[in-house]
Amino acid sequence: MTESLLLEGDVSEALPLLPDASVQCIITSPPYWGLRDYGIRGQIGLEPTVAAYVFKLTALFSELRRILKPDGILWLNIGDGYTSGNRGWRAPDKKNPSRAMSVRSDNPPGLKDKDLLGVPWRLAFALQADGWYLRSDIIWHKPNAMPESVKDRPTRAHEYIFQFTKEEQYAYHADAVLQESDDGSKRNRRTVWSINTSPTNGSHIASFPEELVEPCVLAGTKPGDFVLDPFFGCGTVGLVCRRLNRKFIGIELNPEYVDQAMEFLEKQSLNSTSKRRIRYDANKHADQLAFFEAASQRRVLP
Ligand SMILES: C[S@@+](CC[C@H](N)C(=O)[O-])C[C@H]1O[C@@H](n2cnc3c(N)ncnc32)[C@H](O)[C@@H]1O
Repeated sequence: MTESLLLEGDVSEALPLLPDASVQCIITSPPYWGLRDYGIRGQIGLEPTVAAYVFKLTALFSELRRILKPDGILWLNIGDGYTSGNRGWRAPDKKNPSRAMSVRSDNPPGLKDKDLLGVPWRLAFALQADGWYLRSDIIWHKPNAMPESVKDRPTRAHEYIFQFTKEEQYAYHADAVLQESDDGSKRNRRTVWSINTSPTNGSHIASFPEELVEPCVLAGTKPGDFVLDPFFGCGTVGLVCRRLNRKFIGIELNPEYVDQAMEFLEKQSLNSTSKRRIRYDANKHADQLAFFEAASQRRVLP
């Protein structure tokens, strides 16, 4: 692979097409369980139980481990939620219509009404058991977190970013992500990152702030390296990679988000020679070689 690539399709069909040990870093935020309806068939996040969700993601992430270079890093952003109290639905939210759910799962076995699901740690432990090294749990503190109408617990203002690696030894560029301490000297980056959520990008309701992606790219790669985001959304990882002279591979199921990502990437740079979008067809591109040959012939953008 030599160029950045944006693949439109289901992650489980796209990943087998990517070569072994081909990306230096993976930065991604999968759909959270039971939280949002992205309104498209095949979407992840609407599994009937947390266990089914964790099982599905663990299998996908095992495929990601194959694609990651031995000294590579996976940064995984994941948030949590509460049991539905067996309500079976979620009322529309004026500010965020996609948070309405026509179907909401029953309380997972063993959990009660109002229980915090603990999805991030359930997933982290499953990935660890599957062979990933769990190296760090970073708290993404959101100073501008949305208010919640709760009076019996603190308002949630954080999510997790887990740092996983494929091997015990790996490439982490600590000097590229130093922080300033109170006395003005530089020190190793800490595990609490205070970063505001950004306003919604286009119609996407869960895009990363670029500021969150930046330290992951800088700590995990050198210029020219490839970064993969298998849940590309409107392409924040691609935008940061292009700005920092890294290459990217994005995979996204929803064509509307793919269009937005293309638009944002196009706006960011007039030099569009490093972007290609392929609507792949799993039957036609049954093996990797055929797929990449086809890819190089099917440049959609000028
Ligand atoms: C949390 S969002 C990622 C947002 C992204 N980080 C950004 O900054 O825009 C998760 C994305 O996964 C996509 N998605 C859901 N199921 C998918 C699947 N089976 N294959 C590929 N993408 C999927 C959704 O459409 C959504 O855009």
